[in-house]
Amino acid sequence: MKVVGIGGTLRDGSSTERLVGAVLAACARKGAQTQLFGGSTLAALPHFDPQGGERTQAEAQLVEAVRACDALVIGSPGYHGGVSGLVKNAIDLLEDLREDARPYFDGRPVGLVVSAAGWQATGVTLGALRGIVHAMRGWPTPLGIAVNSVVQRPFAADGSLADDDIAGAVEAQATQIMAFGKVPA
Ligand SMILES: Cc1cc2nc3c(=O)[nH]c(=O)nc-3n(C[C@H](O)[C@H](O)[C@H](O)COP(=O)(O)O)c2cc1C
Repeated sequence: MKVVGIGGTLRDGSSTERLVGAVLAACARKGAQTQLFGGSTLAALPHFDPQGGERTQAEAQLVEAVRACDALVIGSPGYHGGVSGLVKNAIDLLEDLREDARPYFDGRPVGLVVSAAGWQATGVTLGALRGIVHAMRGWPTPLGIAVNSVVQRPFAADGSLADDDIAGAVEAQATQIMAFGKVPA
């Protein structure tokens, strides 16, 4: 199973990117091949042009990876009560999958992760991501991960997950992704 992760910010040690990476790592332990498009990779994408035309190498790599994947993990910080522009721009580029036999995220599970400084933004942004995944024909996993980066302090200095509740949620979401996204024999 191929699982693609999309998400992060340009902040050094982005908690969003680390959380998406943690879900991917849990999927990898369960046998998945994983690929992460983190903050700096997403920042190399130009603003999405709906008129199409020649795509950059960075754009083509993201579109091809999602086209070939069996499942996704998408993470966003809560920025001003919603999905960050960096992450949304990457999602908008996936409009290039509209004419595919299996358009957008069709039939695939999508694990969702939000990191924000307050609980209100975690909930609102998670709801917004669920709406986006529904619009793109994907199946948000029952468990979304909402992390309060101020109250919970999810990571230790070495970048490892330091919160048992979050670690449990990461493991549970990975289990749901792998169960739903299982490639038929
Ligand atoms: C431009 C900007 C807008 C933000 N807006 C909100 C917000 O509306 N609500 C909130 O709880 N936190 C807000 N935050 C805080 C971030 O969501 C929080 O620090 C998050 O954990 C950052 O993710 P990162 O560690 O991946 O960079 C904002 C931060 C920035 C930089």
